[in-house]
Amino acid sequence: MKEKVDVLLSNSAISTRINELGDKISKDYKNKEIQIICILKGSVMFMSDLSKKITVPVYYHFMKVSSYGSGTDSSGVLKVELDLTESIEGKHVLIIEDIIDSGNTLSLLRKLLLKRNPASLKICTLLDKPDRRVSNVPVDYTGFSIPDKFVVGYGLDFDQRYRNLDYVGVVSFEEDEEEPFQ
Ligand code: IMP
Ligand code: MG
Repeated sequence: MKEKVDVLLSNSAISTRINELGDKISKDYKNKEIQIICILKGSVMFMSDLSKKITVPVYYHFMKVSSYGSGTDSSGVLKVELDLTESIEGKHVLIIEDIIDSGNTLSLLRKLLLKRNPASLKICTLLDKPDRRVSNVPVDYTGFSIPDKFVVGYGLDFDQRYRNLDYVGVVSFEEDEEEPFQ
């Protein structure tokens, strides 16, 4: 089986959208500071590019939570593999996610973080697959709504590969061509 990646969102389309999101977030948080929580590993590239376009003070935090194994189905169970190291009490918190699929991960994470009494808690995702939603979760900023396809690149992986692509693509699998009979 050969894997093939077709471009879904080019780097320039992503950059344009990130500029727009950065403007909107900067306006919405005027005179405030933002505690950004980057959800590892998939959101690293998005967080890094987006935060450069935000003009209010930004603080970086990282969490690693998952409900995914190496396959393409969510188990719906939140596993906190890496937690915050600082308190978010009374702070304006913005979760930065790569993609919302079933919504299970974020709805569980949101409940966990709300218990820590932030002044506000919003969610920003690069990609959303609305057709796959199982758990209802309020999303404040969305880069792109995409069809129900498994995507890679710009931080997103398939079995830990393809994260470094500067675009988002759809993976598909092709049968290897058979050697012609001699
Ligand atoms: P959810 O809990 O089903 O919303 O899963 C969200 C997480 O699943 C994301 O943060 C990704 O890590 C992963 N995920 C969901 N869809 C894709 C995809 O198309 N490509 C790569 N990872 C995905
Ligand atoms: Mg993720």
